[in-house]
Amino acid sequence: MTIAATGLFEVVPLTQHIGAEIRGLDLSKPLDDASIKGIYQAWLDHIVIIFRDQTLSQEDHMRVTEYFGQHGHIRRPPKYRPPGFDRVLPGIMFISNIRENGEPIGALPDGEMMFHHDMIHVDVPDKGTLLYSLEIPSSGGNTLFASGYAAFETMDPALRAQIDGRIAQHHYNYGSTQKGDGKGTEAFARARHPAIRTHEETGRKAVYVNRLMTVGLDGLSDEAAEPILNAVFDHAEKPEFVYSHEWRVGDLLLWDNRCSSHAREDFPAHERRLMLRTTVVGSVKPY
Ligand SMILES: [Fe+2]
Repeated sequence: MTIAATGLFEVVPLTQHIGAEIRGLDLSKPLDDASIKGIYQAWLDHIVIIFRDQTLSQEDHMRVTEYFGQHGHIRRPPKYRPPGFDRVLPGIMFISNIRENGEPIGALPDGEMMFHHDMIHVDVPDKGTLLYSLEIPSSGGNTLFASGYAAFETMDPALRAQIDGRIAQHHYNYGSTQKGDGKGTEAFARARHPAIRTHEETGRKAVYVNRLMTVGLDGLSDEAAEPILNAVFDHAEKPEFVYSHEWRVGDLLLWDNRCSSHAREDFPAHERRLMLRTTVVGSVKPY
């Protein structure tokens, strides 16, 4: 792997298509403008960027989020808080299986989760998501990131002709980790977006449908759409387009929701997992 040294930090690609580790930055200190510009470009180039061995306050986490755009707000404050959290900044969400009084303190507590794009079921989906790990299980729980660019660019032309130019329909029951698992609460919104999205900053085209949330294609019956969508999902999730992130405590990871999907592997239910999540709001409808 090549290392691109900027003089400020190093960008170390992790796979051929997606993922890079950024070395040499301590995010607990404000970054200068050149570094902010540099990590933004690395994010556009590599889709997923990872900063290891960070020790961040909630304020630090929010500040880093704002390097990439406007942070999203969480509607409801968390019902329970992990020990050590006597306050939670608006915009910080817990992803956790830790339970207090039998109820998970965080969202999406357990197990495996199918590939998806965050918030694709609303008109202006999130641009990016940041996860910061505080507690991780001893094994499992990797997050998988698939490059939508690589999937589009390598797609069989016959399949590409069936999906490119189509509008896809998306729906999500909050809390569901598998399509139709019945665990979620009913979504307040459905959305329709191009099945192949052109990224508004890079100009590249990416697969923009996913196994968890995409439910149909405009102009086609469910019976006609399903085999096309399944073929696209099977192609887009191939290991050669995927970076599998093995978490360590202190990882801050940011992904681009406009050109990648992500999934989670299973992990032992009895071991604690705690991550803090923030989002960068989208600025445009996908096109
Ligand atoms: Fe997600």
